[in-house]
Amino acid sequence: MMRLEGRTATVTGGAGGIGRAAAIALAAEGARVAVIDLQKEAAEAVAEEIRGSGGTAIAVGADVSSEPDVEAAVREVVDAFGGVDIAFNNAGIIRRSTAVDTSVDDWDRVFGVNVRGVFLMCKHVVPLMAGRGGGSIINTGSGWGLTGGGQAISYCASKGAVVNMTRALAIDHGPQGIRVNSVNPGDIDTGMLRDEARQLGQDASVFLADAADRPLRRMGQPSEVANAVVWLASDESSFVTGAALVVDGGGIA
Ligand SMILES: NC(=O)c1ccc[n+]([C@@H]2O[C@H](COP(=O)([O-])OP(=O)(O)OC[C@H]3O[C@@H](n4cnc5c(N)ncnc54)[C@H](O)[C@@H]3O)[C@@H](O)[C@H]2O)c1
Repeated sequence: MMRLEGRTATVTGGAGGIGRAAAIALAAEGARVAVIDLQKEAAEAVAEEIRGSGGTAIAVGADVSSEPDVEAAVREVVDAFGGVDIAFNNAGIIRRSTAVDTSVDDWDRVFGVNVRGVFLMCKHVVPLMAGRGGGSIINTGSGWGLTGGGQAISYCASKGAVVNMTRALAIDHGPQGIRVNSVNPGDIDTGMLRDEARQLGQDASVFLADAADRPLRRMGQPSEVANAVVWLASDESSFVTGAALVVDGGGIA
């Protein structure tokens, strides 16, 4: 039996690595999926892929740091599917720099997407979930949101905020039947890692080989994070809320 039959899910950053894998995995379990991303065309390609395998999906173009965009996106999802039961708030960006090297504009952009984006999605889906008797919110933090990491000051600060915002949301909305958890990946093989190598001026293959230095001796695949997201979205995790689930091959967080 499919685990998410009859549910509707939003996935922000759904055009990219982890979000794309999660959108596909949620749809494979029977959820109707809204693939929300800054890159509308790439989001449309993911929605098409889901429909091509017999699933139900729409693509929505939105910048999660903009409240008008988020409000319009959520309205579009409600018009298409009637409500929201699962929200995977996953869109995120990274800037690889220390405090000394980070511009205020970069700081604000990272917080705009990673922190305000998660807050705005929650602000607009929580009332819908509460009206339906509950729901499951999953926010993408990072191993570095729990431990810190080098040359990524704005990112580490923003992901720490996501982890603790998740706990605060779980406290506020548990009585409404809404569970809120964070999934915290270690190094996962996506475009973001290649972007980091570029920002640091490093060779991508050397950077990716370094990322495999952990107990399981490899990077993770987006689908391995997606499996954790499906579990947190499903009733199998019915007594889990406020948790920071680490998916990192061991040893970082
Ligand atoms: N890849 C990793 O190793 C890793 C590790 C820890 C945490 N994460 C987190 O996982 C999440 C997904 O990362 P990924 O590796 O799949 O990255 P990715 O760059 O492959 O995908 C991110 C997606 O988010 C979209 N996006 C960016 N800004 C947006 C905005 N303002 N509004 C809407 N969409 C926006 C991008 O267009 C892209 O499709 C991020 O929050 C990231 O911080 C990734």
